[in-house]
Amino acid sequence: MDTVEIYEVGPRDGLQNEARESPVAEKVALVDTLSTAGFRRIECASFVSPKWVPQMAGSAEVLAGITRAPSIRYAALTPNMRGFEDARAAGADEVAVFGSASEGFSRANVNASIDEALERFAPVVEAARAIDLPVRGYVSCVVECPYDGAVSPDAVARVADRLFAMGCYEISLGDTIGQGTPDAVARMLLAVREVVPVGRLAGHFHDTNGRALDNIDAALALGLRVFDAAVGGLGGCPYAPGAAGNVATEAVAAHLARLGYNTGLDLDVISKAADMARAMRGADKD
Ligand code: HMG
Ligand code: MG
Repeated sequence: MDTVEIYEVGPRDGLQNEARESPVAEKVALVDTLSTAGFRRIECASFVSPKWVPQMAGSAEVLAGITRAPSIRYAALTPNMRGFEDARAAGADEVAVFGSASEGFSRANVNASIDEALERFAPVVEAARAIDLPVRGYVSCVVECPYDGAVSPDAVARVADRLFAMGCYEISLGDTIGQGTPDAVARMLLAVREVVPVGRLAGHFHDTNGRALDNIDAALALGLRVFDAAVGGLGGCPYAPGAAGNVATEAVAAHLARLGYNTGLDLDVISKAADMARAMRGADKD
C-alpha cells in the first residue's frame, strides 16, 4: 500500500487565525492528543512578532508544556534570526521559513519583498543546518494572491528553487486563499517539479472553495505524497483576507484511506482531536 504523510499544521496554521486566542494549556492538550495519532511531524509554534500574530505569542510555553513523543518532530515557523534563536531555545525539532510567490502577499505577511525575505531566510537556514535542525520552506500564494491576482507557475518555481537550493529539505506549496483548481494546481506542480524533486514537495491547501480534496487528488496524480492539513479545519492566514481554514486533517485522512493510501493515522484519535480543535475556535466560527 502506498504511503502518504499528513503533516499536521492545526496548532500553528489553524490557531494563528482563529479570532479567539487559545490559552497555552488548551494548545498543549491539543498537541498532546495529536501526538498519539501517528503523525511524524506536528507544527505547533511560530516565533513571529506578537504584534503581527498575537495568537502565537505563547509558542515557547507550548513547546515547554507538551509531552514529546520521541518519534515526532515538533516544528516552528521562524521568519528571521530572532525567531530562529527563540525556536532553538524553546527546543523546536524543526523550523520553517516562509516565502511567497507573489510580491503583494510577501509585503503584507512579512513586510518585505520576495527577495528581501529570501535574504533574511538564508542565515536562518544556515544556522539551523549547522546544528542539524531540519528546515522546511513554504511558498505561499502558489495559484493566486489576494493582492496581486493570478500567480504564474514560473514565479512559484523560482521561489521553490531558491528555498531548496538554500537547504530546505522540503518545500510546502501553499494555496493560501484556496482559489486553486485541479488544473491550475497541476500546471503549477509541473513547473515546480522541474526544479525540485517531487519527493521533496508537499501540498498545502486551504479549503476556501471546497476544492482542497480535488487539488490533493491532482497533486497525488503528479507524485506528491505529503499534504499539510489542520485538525478540525482550523485556521486561515491573518494576512490573506478570505483565507478559510486549512483542509481538515480528518477529511484528508478519510479521503486517502478511501483511495487506498496508508497514512499511519488513528482516525479515532483524529476525530477526538478535531472535537477539541473545534471547541477552541472563535465563537463566530462555531
Ligand atoms: P517588521 O515590523 O518589518 O520588523 O516585521 P521589525 O524588525 O521592525 O520588527 C517589528 C517588531 O517585531 C519589533 O518589536 C521586533 O523586535 C519584533 P518592537 O521593537 O516594535 O517592539 N520582532 C519579533 N518579535 C518576536 N519574534 C520575532 C520577531 N522579529 C521581530 N521573530 C516580521 C517583520 C517578519 C517580524 C513580521 O512581519 C512578522 O512577524 N510576520 C509574521 C507573519 C506571520 O506569521 N504570518 C503567518 C505565517 S505564514 C502563513 O501562514 C502561510 C503558510 O501557512 C503557507 C500558506 O498557507 O501559504 C505558511
Ligand atoms: Mg497556510
